[in-house]
Amino acid sequence: MFSCSSRSQTIHPHLKFDFGANELIYCMDTAHPLSGQVTAITGAGRGIGAAIARKLAQLGATAVLLGRTQSTLDSTAQAIFDKGGKAEVIACDVTILHQLEHAAARIDSTFGRLDILVNNAGIGGFNHPLHELPPDEWDRILNTNLRGVYYAIRTFAPIMIRARSGHVINISSLAGKNALPNGAAYAASKWGLNGLTYSVAEELRGHNIRVSVVCPGSVDTELSPHAGKDPKKMLQPDDVAHTVAMLATQAPQSFVSEILIRPTQKP
Ligand SMILES: NC(=O)c1ccc[n+]([C@@H]2O[C@H](COP(=O)([O-])OP(=O)(O)OC[C@H]3O[C@@H](n4cnc5c(N)ncnc54)[C@H](OP(=O)(O)O)[C@@H]3O)[C@@H](O)[C@H]2O)c1
Repeated sequence: MFSCSSRSQTIHPHLKFDFGANELIYCMDTAHPLSGQVTAITGAGRGIGAAIARKLAQLGATAVLLGRTQSTLDSTAQAIFDKGGKAEVIACDVTILHQLEHAAARIDSTFGRLDILVNNAGIGGFNHPLHELPPDEWDRILNTNLRGVYYAIRTFAPIMIRARSGHVINISSLAGKNALPNGAAYAASKWGLNGLTYSVAEELRGHNIRVSVVCPGSVDTELSPHAGKDPKKMLQPDDVAHTVAMLATQAPQSFVSEILIRPTQKP
């Protein structure tokens, strides 16, 4: 459904343009407010990333699905195609810079734009007090959850800067706001991600690029420890996707910079 007005407005990717008798008419496809936009989602093969990809595609964006496992990315793409959406799969590991650079080059040559980057890929680590955590496990967690986001921003932000438009949405955690015994490396990666987000938001604001962070509590996915929890009370991946959709469909002058999401009842 399109809603139209006859007032002239600044061009924005949410808007479709048509020419009326004497003036510009702008029309927004209210069912597909992200129509024409391109979004890249890391970790889109399962869990929260898959839900975000399906949601943004449902809103009209082309979803570029990034992750290490081709088969799970293909499943997410198929779910999007089944609903009439648009998706593209690029297998890549966020801890390997040249793989992200290859993905960015492909997105740029195929679409010539990137409107939304969702840095969602992440791994857990909830079983060791820090003094017993093997150093390679520390590296794996920090390299994925924090350095991976730095690599992705380093790689994709130039496309947005060139367009003077874009939105980076980082999926952090309430573990980035609270203490997490037996998950100190994970908590450190998410506290770090929050600080990275607030800082990069100020760096890119002058380029008309928003950088937001979403901090969910326990979500019912493979990553989250379920012991002693009622999965029905946990957040669902679609709850996080809903929040990302809210961020992605804000009016151009509005910048919601941080969202915390808690389960209504403690799981
Ligand atoms: N579940 C929760 O309770 C919860 C709460 C708050 C925040 N979060 C955050 O939400 C994000 C998604 O978590 P989830 O619960 O959906 O976990 P999940 O179901 O385990 O999915 C994680 C995704 O990240 C991808 N991934 C992992 N390492 C990667 C790498 N090096 N390069 C590219 N992709 C990689 C995985 O795909 P491949 O293995 O195929 O690469 C997978 O698609 C994470 O950042 C997590 O910290 C989760």
